[in-house]
Amino acid sequence: MVEQTQAEQHEHGRGGEAPRVVLGVSGGIAAYKACELLRRFAESGHDVQVVPTASALHFVGAATWSALSGHPVSEQVWESVHEVPHVRIGQSADLVVVAPATADLLARAAGGLADDLLTNTLLTARCPVVFAPAMHTEMWEHPATQENVAKLRSRGAVVVEPDVGRLTGEDSGKGRFPDPAEIFALCRRVLARGPEALVPDLAGRHVVISAGGTREPLDPVRFLGNRSSGKQGYALARTAAARGARVTLVAANSSLPAPAGVEVVEVGTARELRAAMVSAAGEADAVVMAAAVADFRPAEYAAGKIKKRSGAEPDPLALVRNPDVLAELGAERPREGQVLVGFAAETDDVLAHGREKLRAKGCDLLVVNEVGEDRTFGSEENEAVVLAADGGETPVPYGPKETLAERVWDLVAERLG
Ligand code: CTP
Repeated sequence: MVEQTQAEQHEHGRGGEAPRVVLGVSGGIAAYKACELLRRFAESGHDVQVVPTASALHFVGAATWSALSGHPVSEQVWESVHEVPHVRIGQSADLVVVAPATADLLARAAGGLADDLLTNTLLTARCPVVFAPAMHTEMWEHPATQENVAKLRSRGAVVVEPDVGRLTGEDSGKGRFPDPAEIFALCRRVLARGPEALVPDLAGRHVVISAGGTREPLDPVRFLGNRSSGKQGYALARTAAARGARVTLVAANSSLPAPAGVEVVEVGTARELRAAMVSAAGEADAVVMAAAVADFRPAEYAAGKIKKRSGAEPDPLALVRNPDVLAELGAERPREGQVLVGFAAETDDVLAHGREKLRAKGCDLLVVNEVGEDRTFGSEENEAVVLAADGGETPVPYGPKETLAERVWDLVAERLG
């Protein structure tokens, strides 16, 4: 039986319901960027209640928040009083994220004030709370703000460091609202694992990950390829970077944007991927082969486009074997103590094939998942069992590819000690 941890129940919502997120918005120009954050939550199946402050509504009106979230929106405690919103919203949340958080909002939260619906919500929430501050550099650096941030952090809240860059108007400096995609990724991690997900347990480690699917050219316009999107490998890279690792991502034909802070090496064929992996693996603490590598390539590459000759049957396609990168890394073990992780995509008899593959390829961990026409490829979700060479078996229930990535890093971090 697959047991759900408390964190997983949060990520999948209580009793399978959508996770409940409160998006608090305080009065700064970055409020318009919080619309993008709201869209990301809503489109990925979260139930979002927006709680703006009165000043936030000067920047973005209640109609926008309501239309994007699908819920009525109010900044006051005096509306729908029979539903006791000042207590209910905070109590029933799985995550509260305040984005943007102004200096004033941070001060009121640190002081425990409850003078509007958002600050009431912050006092009643028992779930993780994330603040994404945005303000001018002077306000951010002011000792009052810094003390408030320290106080909120000491109580377990996550306060994201603002970015450095262009601020409202001409000036630039620290205080810029972080990229909504980054805040979203961070919130997803906190939802899945709680604030401890942000401890950088891979700091000082170098990890090398392959992602995507190789393409084996037949002629200048055709190739043999596969349906891998690269999303699982990119999720592994993003989460490893977030846990403090230096990350090299060897990406085969993926159209996904490079995750922040990750070194991306682009490759096309299996042989290019092998060369990049062997070169990077020499000094890596962990290597993860998440790419779908073609086992075969056309025996001959036609320099000109292969033409159909009228009336003639096409020539049979001769194939030759590609190198097995994982098996080679497993046999050679380029660095002592290196943790080697493979993936296995199977369509049937999944666990038996997985055990056999783990042994044959000589890796420490093998993530086994079932694939098919409409399963796993290109989707945002995945379900897997992580098999370990020491006999361990860790089921990871159906959920975001980030959650599976986090489990893989948990197991890698344990083995790295
Ligand atoms: N792999 C590899 N080099 C290959 C083929 C696969 O490094 N030429 C790696 C994949 O990145 C994955 C693991 O081996 O981590 C298993 O891949 P999979 O396609 O499931 O297995 P195959 O070895 O190709 O075996 P089969 O197709 O017979 O199931």
